[in-house]
Amino acid sequence: MPLICLGLEGTAHSFGAGIVSGDGTVLSNVWDMYSPPTGGIHPREASRHHSDVGPTVIRNALERAGISPQEINLIAFSRGPGLGPCLRTTATIARTLALRLSVPLVGVNHCIAHIEIGCLESAFEDPVTVYVSGGNTQIIAYAGKRYRTFGETLDIAVGNMLDSFGRAVGMRFPAGPEIELKAEKASSYHQLPYSVKGMDLSYSGMLTAARKLHSEGTPLSEICFSVQETAFGMLAEIAERAIAHTKKRELLLTGGVARNDRLTDILKGVANRHDARFHRVSPPLAGDQGAMIAWTGVVQHRAGDSLKISDSHVLPKWRTDEQDIVWREVDG
Ligand code: ATP
Ligand code: FE2
Repeated sequence: MPLICLGLEGTAHSFGAGIVSGDGTVLSNVWDMYSPPTGGIHPREASRHHSDVGPTVIRNALERAGISPQEINLIAFSRGPGLGPCLRTTATIARTLALRLSVPLVGVNHCIAHIEIGCLESAFEDPVTVYVSGGNTQIIAYAGKRYRTFGETLDIAVGNMLDSFGRAVGMRFPAGPEIELKAEKASSYHQLPYSVKGMDLSYSGMLTAARKLHSEGTPLSEICFSVQETAFGMLAEIAERAIAHTKKRELLLTGGVARNDRLTDILKGVANRHDARFHRVSPPLAGDQGAMIAWTGVVQHRAGDSLKISDSHVLPKWRTDEQDIVWREVDG
């Protein structure tokens, strides 16, 4: 019987259900995003959203894939990192389904899933990964059975910086796409803090400075342009250093901010300069969704990983480098 995995994603704002077969075909990928009317995400309200929309999202995923619940033979869920209430709601749905269908359960690290879905799409074997989203900004490379974080933000994530700036100037959440559109209309650059410290970076100073420019009446498109050029330039610098040091020959861009075309172009330039191949995860698989959880579940299950229901508590602070990558054959 072919392996068919249902993956559930629910670490933060989105609840997603994706169905992926053992050969890596994405049969369906459905998600519903909670968008708070004002302000940031409230964990309890987001988790209520997940329990409200969960059954419909899962039903739609099954329908679009054209399979019955009985054909599912593996359940994977996002076990962490993320917001506690959201993780617990998603885990409860996953455990219930695994028990009801009598199939194994696999707990997936959300950040690792962003990498694995990129490796599936690109067929990369050993990339340097730039993982950029609302909650994370990390440069990651595999070494000694772990995905090691070579560099990361010391304060807020690049997506969070974009969303916070957008909120301050009246944009809807998430603001990344609107900032990208506005930036395309400008070419005047205003100086913003460029904050790279070794392999780490920092975005909170840039957020304050961009807000100040706005309060001084600088045209919004020019601020958006300047924010993108500075923020993405910082990422390019540490990605370049990571490639130069690790001598890896593949550069992968993943996470919600990977949807940005300007960031993609800048990192493509870095890869070209170092004779490395480049891949940006395709926009539907770049953000939070269930297919990446399902595929990582397949990979882990094949390597013999499974989770007893009684051990399946969630891990809100689970770091990328805390999981043994038992399924990788290359020795980085
Ligand atoms: P994680 O839990 O991995 O941190 P997340 O909860 O932030 O993920 P994602 O869907 O991976 O969710 O990423 C959402 C982020 O991507 C938001 O900050 C959003 O503004 C940003 N984003 C989406 N599209 C674009 C774009 N075109 N340009 C820049 N940023 C974008
Ligand atoms: Fe994510």
